[in-house]
Amino acid sequence: MREAGLEVEVDAAGNLLGTDLKGSVPGVWTGSHLDTVPEGGKFDGALGVVAGIEAVEQAGRGSVVVFRDEERGCIGSRALVERGPLPDAFLEVHVEQGPRLAGAGAPLGIVTGVVGVSRGSVVVDGRAGHAGTTPMDARDDALVKAAELMLRMRDVARSIEGAVVTVGELEVEPGAVNVIPSRVTMSVDARAPTAEACASLIEQLAFEPTYRTQPAQMDDRLRQALRAELEARGLPVVELTSGAGHDAAVLAAAGAPSAMLFVRSLNDGVSHSPDELSSPEDVALAIEVLAGWLRRL
Ligand code: GLV
Ligand code: MN
Ligand code: MN
Repeated sequence: MREAGLEVEVDAAGNLLGTDLKGSVPGVWTGSHLDTVPEGGKFDGALGVVAGIEAVEQAGRGSVVVFRDEERGCIGSRALVERGPLPDAFLEVHVEQGPRLAGAGAPLGIVTGVVGVSRGSVVVDGRAGHAGTTPMDARDDALVKAAELMLRMRDVARSIEGAVVTVGELEVEPGAVNVIPSRVTMSVDARAPTAEACASLIEQLAFEPTYRTQPAQMDDRLRQALRAELEARGLPVVELTSGAGHDAAVLAAAGAPSAMLFVRSLNDGVSHSPDELSSPEDVALAIEVLAGWLRRL
């Protein structure tokens, strides 16, 4: 950031802020996050930071933010919107993390909106017992009940347009090979594209979210500016929604005009995996479009 001519500071939440010393467009920001998931890839988050710094340097304007801890719940961006002030405009470059752009033959895509994410945990209780001496019909096995519950959760998500639900963590107690499980704690990550669908999903899954973001719409005027940059380069204009959560959605939900530019993902769009991949050519195009967008604003 310093090499790109930015003034660098870290705020109280751990966000890294690189501000435009030249001050030509003080409220225009780009950036993303640097944290990732266990066994994650190289692009989710980091691409938007590196592309942002590069584009700001090329354009000679704009500021860059590295949000703290996006994956566990957008800690940095939520702290930033609580504290303010919000940027006049924020654009996040990010890998698509899905196969749609590759399917459409488009290197880049404009995000229309981001799903709402709700997370929490569900505890299922049973009764511990000896694995060898307790007859099958005399058991109250918490893990078997949790497995049945997970299948019902899957059916709930399938019944709501665009909804998804994932149990990614299980804690089994007491956790021994020869003891019937007495308690299971499972994580729940539930997502849907509209506020109504989110409410219905949470109600039908009957869990209390401890973390919740609302679905967010990207700003029309900023999307228009992105579209103009794509058209000026003869690139196809593909618009798509995001099923992954993003810091841009936290800013948008708080009222800061925000937009996202997706970069085509290869390898069938796999993400949160070491196989995550985008081509250097597509990344270079994204930087060019971002720099153009910064100049246009
Ligand atoms: C962030 O990667 C998310 O969980 O959507
Ligand atoms: Mn990300
Ligand atoms: Mn991620």
